[in-house]
Amino acid sequence: MEAGHATGSAPARREGLAGLAKLDFGADGTPLQAKPALGAALGLSGPFFVKRDDRAGMGMGGNKTRKLQYVVADALEGGADVLITCGAVQSNHACLTAVCGAAAGLEVHLVLAGDPSQMRGGNLVVDGLAAARLHFVAGDAWDVLVAESERLAEDLRREGRRPYVIPVGASTPLGAVGYADAYLELLGQLDAAGVTADWLVTACGSGGTQAGLVAGRALAGRGPRVLGVDVSKGGGELRDVVAALAAGSLELLGSDAAVPPDDVVLVDGAGPGYGQVFPESREMVHSALRAAGLLLDPVYTSKAMAALPGLVGAGRIAAGDTVVFLHTGGLAALFAPAYEEALR
Ligand SMILES: Cc1ncc(COP(=O)(O)O)c(C=O)c1O
Repeated sequence: MEAGHATGSAPARREGLAGLAKLDFGADGTPLQAKPALGAALGLSGPFFVKRDDRAGMGMGGNKTRKLQYVVADALEGGADVLITCGAVQSNHACLTAVCGAAAGLEVHLVLAGDPSQMRGGNLVVDGLAAARLHFVAGDAWDVLVAESERLAEDLRREGRRPYVIPVGASTPLGAVGYADAYLELLGQLDAAGVTADWLVTACGSGGTQAGLVAGRALAGRGPRVLGVDVSKGGGELRDVVAALAAGSLELLGSDAAVPPDDVVLVDGAGPGYGQVFPESREMVHSALRAAGLLLDPVYTSKAMAALPGLVGAGRIAAGDTVVFLHTGGLAALFAPAYEEALR
């Protein structure tokens, strides 16, 4: 049995960065694996590694686990008895909130955008197994989801409950601290292996993951530059969100380190749009599996990795650079029939 995972008991509490409350959802210490054949397939001649946050220890893994280690701890500290969050029908974040919330003994409500009949399977299966209460809303406008989450929280408060609303993607300064953690953990792994990496590449959606990594780099004052691949056509607005979240995390951590503006590097990798598979991202799923036995997801990691050959071709990343790819998970979506079809 792994430390901190006593069967049948609530997750262990431990002290996180700067003494912040943190739960142990088994997200710390994910493997760092060399994947040379995959690196070569991407056009890299230098060392290529994958940081396996798809193996983070809850549900089917994924990046939200590290954020939720801090955010759910904060909910418990504040006396919450219900978690509410929102996202797309196949939201990995919503699903991991359902799983982590259940493990922490909390009721979980998910406000999901879209039509469940068009997007069956995948994360929805896990949401159901975790006994999350699902509320579907038409359309996919974020402000509608946020308003519905707030309305639900109000209803629950009237019933005497103590809801805690987690914003989209748990991309708050506190959630992002989970990725400052991850950056420092990665540096330790690279140091132990005697590797100096040039780049850390991640998919970027709501911005918290990249923000935390950038904050971690500012804290360490060294380490690979962080390159985010925007999978949602967030553009300049997303860059501002990442910068603001990184600054917010550093403030929360009591650090006066600053994030230089050119440390927030974002490139477009969305293809036709958020959640839509395109030829290069489809081919990436197949070629990562062939080259390295690595499963990528259809919405985030396949798009982020598919951006690499172009970045190398354009000289943005030198072919001989040492690159770490952060595998942020999302694998349950592979088992949603609509994505299974699109990837075939
Ligand atoms: C699998 C996966 N990868 C990457 C991301 C992007 O992370 P963030 O929302 O923190 O930018 C998400 C969530 O949006 C995700 O579910």
